[in-house]
Amino acid sequence: MTDTAVFRPGLLAGQVAVITGGGTGIGFGIAELLAQLGAHVVLASRKPAHLDPAVEKIRNAGGSASAVAVDVRDADRVKTMVDSVQSEHGRIDILVNNAAGNFYAPSETLSANAWKSVIEIDLYGTFFCSQAVAPIMRQSGGGRIINISMTLHYRGWPQMAHATAAKAGIDALTRTLAMEWAPHGIRVNAIAPGPIPTEGVRKAFTPPPNSEGVVDLFAEERAMSAYAKRAIPLGRWGSPADIANMVAFLVSPAGDWITGSIMVVDGGEWLSRGQSN
Ligand code: HXC
Repeated sequence: MTDTAVFRPGLLAGQVAVITGGGTGIGFGIAELLAQLGAHVVLASRKPAHLDPAVEKIRNAGGSASAVAVDVRDADRVKTMVDSVQSEHGRIDILVNNAAGNFYAPSETLSANAWKSVIEIDLYGTFFCSQAVAPIMRQSGGGRIINISMTLHYRGWPQMAHATAAKAGIDALTRTLAMEWAPHGIRVNAIAPGPIPTEGVRKAFTPPPNSEGVVDLFAEERAMSAYAKRAIPLGRWGSPADIANMVAFLVSPAGDWITGSIMVVDGGEWLSRGQSN
């Protein structure tokens, strides 16, 4: 559970937030905090059954949450999902475009479909969801859109052509939509998270089994701790709460004069790349 002491209780009371990919990882951390601050959170995902435990966890903590099915790659389904949230709750104040797909793969052999999958989930999904909520936010005098980006495209990242291209596109969309929709009171910003030890990242740090078939789990911890000391100036890995805190700030009244910004929340990692490796 996030320490919300820095934010006023009830800060987001009465607001409705849609979080794509909100069932796990960073998306869940964001949903948890926005719910703690009083918003009703709608977790949107391809497989809503996967969201049930997340919804239950938020409700058990006293928050208000629901799940909806959507594949963000499908503009018509996104529109239907957004319309259903609007008719059930009467408003959408916050959209967090968090859903993303990813895997390491060499560019020379990346299939057309693999490229398309990631570009469509990350970039098309962000655009379709933003486009669908804009008229609703406009009608109510404004809203906040937060796009989850990354830092790997600032310098390039081998075997991530699809994801880095998509996230660079998301940065461009953030600035363009911010300009286009500022007259409607819609603030559009992005957050570029640094390394957050999700399950996939942890796997990358897990050593192979030894000759007796035993995996040294302490070695994973040591490797992760060594990476944090070597590559992250602030000396620790990030957590979903680090990203959620930035979302809460941006959607609060404190974010009123911020639009078109890309907030890097990474313990200084991307700046130090190349100096420490
Ligand atoms: C090469 C791969 C592949 C891999 C899938 N493909 N995984 N190619 N290496 N590891 C190819 C498939 O062969 C197929 O191409 C095409 O991609 C589509 O695969 P499907 O499984 O049919 O697609 P789909 O079900 O739509 O799944 C989308 C996905 C999947 C992106 C491929 O991984 C996914 O749904 N991921 C969601 C969860 C996720 O990845 N979260 C990570 C977010 S973390 P062919 O040609 O065979 O048809 C994050 C932080 C990044 O974003 C930090 C990075 C360090």
